[in-house]
Amino acid sequence: MPASGEVTIVSQSILIAGSHGQVGHHITEILGGGNRTARAMVRKESQTEEMAALGGEPVVADLTADVDHAVEGCDAIVFAAGSGGEDVYGVDRDGAINLIDAASEAGVDRFVMLSSMGADDPESGPEPLRDYLIAKAEADEYLRNSELNYTIVRPGELTNESGTGEIRAGEDLGLDSGDIPREDVAQTLVTAIDFEPVYGETFEILSGEESIEDALEAVSSS
Ligand SMILES: NC(=O)c1ccc[n+]([C@@H]2O[C@H](COP(=O)([O-])OP(=O)(O)OC[C@H]3O[C@@H](n4cnc5c(N)ncnc54)[C@H](OP(=O)(O)O)[C@@H]3O)[C@@H](O)[C@H]2O)c1
Repeated sequence: MPASGEVTIVSQSILIAGSHGQVGHHITEILGGGNRTARAMVRKESQTEEMAALGGEPVVADLTADVDHAVEGCDAIVFAAGSGGEDVYGVDRDGAINLIDAASEAGVDRFVMLSSMGADDPESGPEPLRDYLIAKAEADEYLRNSELNYTIVRPGELTNESGTGEIRAGEDLGLDSGDIPREDVAQTLVTAIDFEPVYGETFEILSGEESIEDALEAVSSS
């Protein structure tokens, strides 16, 4: 029995959707540098070498097409992909739904979603982000209504500051804005993969003063 706050690794092979992105780079490096298989999903063959150098096992797949080969044999999926505002409904919503469906069909039970603060109430968000937040909200809702064991993590604005390993987390942090380094978001997503207290939870994260494990544990008991 692990002590409170400890994570027992059960997922050995993890698909990282968006591994070539900024958060995805960190996730690939963290998982690839450990004893687990970091299946680094990229869109282009030319991106595979970089992912292998981080310790990832590259797989070429696009969220808007067939992703069955990427999902097959995985124990868990971390969704860290995003349209960057280019095609929010095609990628942030339908691409995510495509991957959720493929996971369900392949029997990959565990799915950790990188969502966004504001996705709980898109209509109150800033106008330029509204469609993006609606797309994220609809993808999150689809995941929640699926049979998968999910965790939905909603960070504030992402920065490229170095990670501190300390965050705050809560179902509703009660703030309109705030930020967090991408490195800490990546570490939170990785920690969440096998952290039972956050199975089935949706919560916000920002920079803070608690260890990631303690902050996640508090989410489940709030
Ligand atoms: N920016 C913020 O302040 C903020 C705040 C809260 C939440 N978020 C969420 O966090 C996510 C990750 O942030 P980030 O900074 O790491 O983003 P990023 O650097 O833009 O990474 C997004 C990744 O998604 C990949 N991608 C795009 N379309 C795809 C498709 N059709 N199939 C497969 N992969 C695809 C991109 O591939 P390529 O490398 O080939 O382009 C890229 O690697 C964002 O997308 C957003 O949803 C962001």
